[in-house]
Amino acid sequence: MTAQQQIHDLTASVPGFPKPGITFRDLTPVFADPSAFRAVTDELLAPFAGSIDAVAGVEARGFLVASAAAYAAGLGVITIRKAGKLPGRVLAHSYDLEYGTATLEIQPDGLAAGARVLLLDDVLATGGTLGASCELLEEAGCTVAGIGVVLELEGLSGRANLAGRTVHALAALPG
Ligand code: PRP
Ligand code: MG
Repeated sequence: MTAQQQIHDLTASVPGFPKPGITFRDLTPVFADPSAFRAVTDELLAPFAGSIDAVAGVEARGFLVASAAAYAAGLGVITIRKAGKLPGRVLAHSYDLEYGTATLEIQPDGLAAGARVLLLDDVLATGGTLGASCELLEEAGCTVAGIGVVLELEGLSGRANLAGRTVHALAALPG
């Protein structure tokens, strides 16, 4: 079975979470299923196999897929974290949320200049998280070879907000 089929079969839709009017798409059962987790990992990697030097993941749920894909490819994993978690010199990038802003950080020291990085996260919604992550990787001297997500939420302009970038989504559902 393809990753897309398994994502559609296993993703839980939770109406009213985290607040009324929102239907939360919960990928927890996809990650908990051995066959689905393997298919997701393999298919996120496949379009970029042999053409990347590292895999980056975004805290927190992006770490699940990024670390698995990095291990499968025999590469290291770069962590993009929420503000205040990383010691030493960090680069920070803020992005807009529905209410307020959020900030992501990266440690630039130790990243190879020009490294081709596959950036992974679980979900693409508005694109704020992945857009900020691209900015951080590029400010740190890396090249974003592509973006991979398990699930794209349609109707939230995420892909438009990442215009010009290669975005590979394994499945899509209405946001
Ligand atoms: C969720 C999800 C993506 C992001 C997508 O993360 O895991 O990272 O939102 O939304 P966007 O495209 O509108 O930016 P969240 O910030 O809820 O945190 P978590 O991964 O730590 O659960
Ligand atoms: Mg996240």
